[in-house]
Amino acid sequence: MSEHTSLTGNRGLDIEEASIFAQDTPGRSGVDLVAPAPFEDRLGGLGRQGVIGLPGLSEPEVVRHFVRLSRANYGIDSGIYTLGSCTMKHNPRLNERLARLPGFADLHPLQPVSTVQGALALIAEVSRWLKALTGLPAIAMSPAAGAHGELCGLMAIRTALENRGDARSRVLVPDSAHGTNPASAALCGYSIDPVPSDGRGRIDVAALKRKLGPDVAAIMLTNPNTCGLFEDQIIEVAELVHGAGGFFYCDGANFNALVGRVRPGDLGIDAMHINLHKTFSTPHGGGGPGAGPVALSKELATYAPLPLIVHDGEGWRLIEHAVDAPPGTKPLGRIKAFHGQMGMFTRAYAYMLSHGADGLRQVAEDAVLNANYVLVKLSDVMTAPYPGPCMHEALFDDGFLEGTGVTTLDFAKAMIDEGLHPMTIYFPLIVHGAMLVEPTETESKRSLDGFIATMRALAAAAKSGDAARFTEAPRLAPRRRLDETRAARNPVLRWRPQAEREAAE
Ligand SMILES: Cc1ncc(COP(=O)(O)O)c(C=O)c1O
Repeated sequence: MSEHTSLTGNRGLDIEEASIFAQDTPGRSGVDLVAPAPFEDRLGGLGRQGVIGLPGLSEPEVVRHFVRLSRANYGIDSGIYTLGSCTMKHNPRLNERLARLPGFADLHPLQPVSTVQGALALIAEVSRWLKALTGLPAIAMSPAAGAHGELCGLMAIRTALENRGDARSRVLVPDSAHGTNPASAALCGYSIDPVPSDGRGRIDVAALKRKLGPDVAAIMLTNPNTCGLFEDQIIEVAELVHGAGGFFYCDGANFNALVGRVRPGDLGIDAMHINLHKTFSTPHGGGGPGAGPVALSKELATYAPLPLIVHDGEGWRLIEHAVDAPPGTKPLGRIKAFHGQMGMFTRAYAYMLSHGADGLRQVAEDAVLNANYVLVKLSDVMTAPYPGPCMHEALFDDGFLEGTGVTTLDFAKAMIDEGLHPMTIYFPLIVHGAMLVEPTETESKRSLDGFIATMRALAAAAKSGDAARFTEAPRLAPRRRLDETRAARNPVLRWRPQAEREAAE
């Protein structure tokens, strides 16, 4: 018997779990519901005739099912989560407690405004903090994620240009950018023109100069960029783009490295989204929930989306229609139902207040310190494409794996066997076999040392010729290596009974 098999398929106390539908016992239920009293059917015969197809399980079966599934998962509460670019930091429990207060958690977005004065005041306070931290005069609070913030910022830029009578067609995006940048610009109708990076992993300013022209609407630059490096020519970039009549959009996903230390407005940035679910510690993963407020310059603030939250001297008011907007403003419309993610705002505000201005500054300092600690401690066994120091994330390439038969993907999968969530891999695209490690400030030295020791041991194993440890990994996870290409090309997104599945094939 192989050391990894058991009679049941279970692995010690990690219990193999079938789909909840496979556990169906028709008629079984966790609750006894009283039969409804006779009522007049007003659906004109359109009511459902068949069963709705929910699996029948008792309460203990349901509880066990979801607890077992949760144990098969890995989250920030399980251990260090170095997924670069994602800023997977600890979500303070204080934030959770406050977000669950019924006065926040049970609000309905259509409640009369007089009954949600506290919530509106809180949103305005978060906005005030963000203005102070970015040095920009206005914040659009409603975008639901970073990418949504990008779209909102670019819509404001497009509206501003149209109002200047100078509609333009091209957006410049460095080749190291996150994929959402070109996607957002394309969604706004712009053509994308990539700007190469230089040998230092920063934007190539000479190439930028060549690309600027009267049709350039904006540049989208990330700072620190996706290589974890500060764009040290950013002021020149801003001057060049402004000189050509364009706007400067900054992808603020990496604000964790700057918060409290640098005000993006001082760098000449016109618009920047802030991922509250990264810098301000609100939980994320699995596609949501998020919040991506956008900081806007004075000119762009004119076009900020609805709703606007204003204080009229007597209380907080929501401006929901362009006709009610303050004189001189021309809101670009509404980009989201209602007013934004209240739960995220509450958590972010709790985070801001509990850290204070000095605490937020220390966040950035500690995030940068931790990343540099990782970079330095691994640089002799792994290869870094750009010399340090770095900002909040440490970037490695696959140079140290050359000749071992182990790829970046294999290396990442072997980390799972060691109880580590892999770092981000193959991003940024400009680095061969990239491995992007973002420890964040919430990891202790002990936790970092544990991570570093494991990475060093893995690097040594790869170089020693133990390729099978990597190419067969993960061997100890609930599932072995999945066919990611098939999963991407032929995703199965809905469970169907076997008979239905077979009939469809
Ligand atoms: C650099 C960068 N830009 C933009 C985004 C998009 O943010 P969101 O996932 O909140 O839409 C991300 C997300 O990871 C990112 O890392």
